[in-house]
Amino acid sequence: MKKDNILDNNYLPFAARIEDIVIESEDGSLKTFKIVFEDEADWEKWRHEPGQFAMLSVAGKGEAPIGIASSPYERDGLLFTVNRAGVVTTALHEMAVGARLGVRGPLGNGFPVDGDLKGKNIVIIAGGFAFTTLRATLLYLLENRGDFGDITVIYGARTPGMLLYRNEFLDWEKRDDINLYVTIDREAEGWHGLVGFVPQIVSQVNPSPEGARALICGPPIMIKFTMPPLEKAGWQDNQVYLSLENRMKCGIGICGHCSSGPIYVCKDGPVFTRAFLNTIPQEY
Ligand code: FES
Repeated sequence: MKKDNILDNNYLPFAARIEDIVIESEDGSLKTFKIVFEDEADWEKWRHEPGQFAMLSVAGKGEAPIGIASSPYERDGLLFTVNRAGVVTTALHEMAVGARLGVRGPLGNGFPVDGDLKGKNIVIIAGGFAFTTLRATLLYLLENRGDFGDITVIYGARTPGMLLYRNEFLDWEKRDDINLYVTIDREAEGWHGLVGFVPQIVSQVNPSPEGARALICGPPIMIKFTMPPLEKAGWQDNQVYLSLENRMKCGIGICGHCSSGPIYVCKDGPVFTRAFLNTIPQEY
């Protein structure tokens, strides 16, 4: 996929509208919005990498950074899974199909699917709603299946009803070219899959670091406890990619909101190797 993300004006959003809405979670806090550009020709200007994000803007409310959940190959609409957590995301949750909004992006870097990840065994580790950009990444890997070795996915949520993209997981489960481990925090009625926190499952699966890279997204506490089992298995910090979610405002390295030591998460990230993050003051 050609990297051609530079817009004429990074402040200018694309005019877009909601084409579909899927309620992902049992408590309604997570919804996936399918968004299409008002002007079909804008698709020609849009190229994103798995792992990038965009700013979604709601008139009168503001903008919020949201990870792009659709793969670069899904060209009939952009998918954004939105956690209702603040003014803008609450406003988004209240919008209906047909409502208009702005999309500014794509922003940030992505996972190096064309570079360091190529030819490697890939271990995707995600907790909760952070699976969004990893969905985009997984679809990219599957689209280019021959370019990668083994693919392992370890994904956990609090309850079965909080797991994202359940129908897709059912499809992925049927494939014999993905090692899939889906877990929930505690036993639940009707759940016959794995039970335990993501770090425990990582420890049980014990993925080999040989010729491998790990891509991790999730709450800081999950990341913190996921690292020791990986270290124990022999993973080096330069084999581990993390996607950070610092507070963002402008998304293009101007306002300073997302700064962490010498870097701006929005512009230099949000994807970093753990080896790099170890060189800067950073909480993750
Ligand atoms: S969000 Fe403004 S500098 Fe990163």
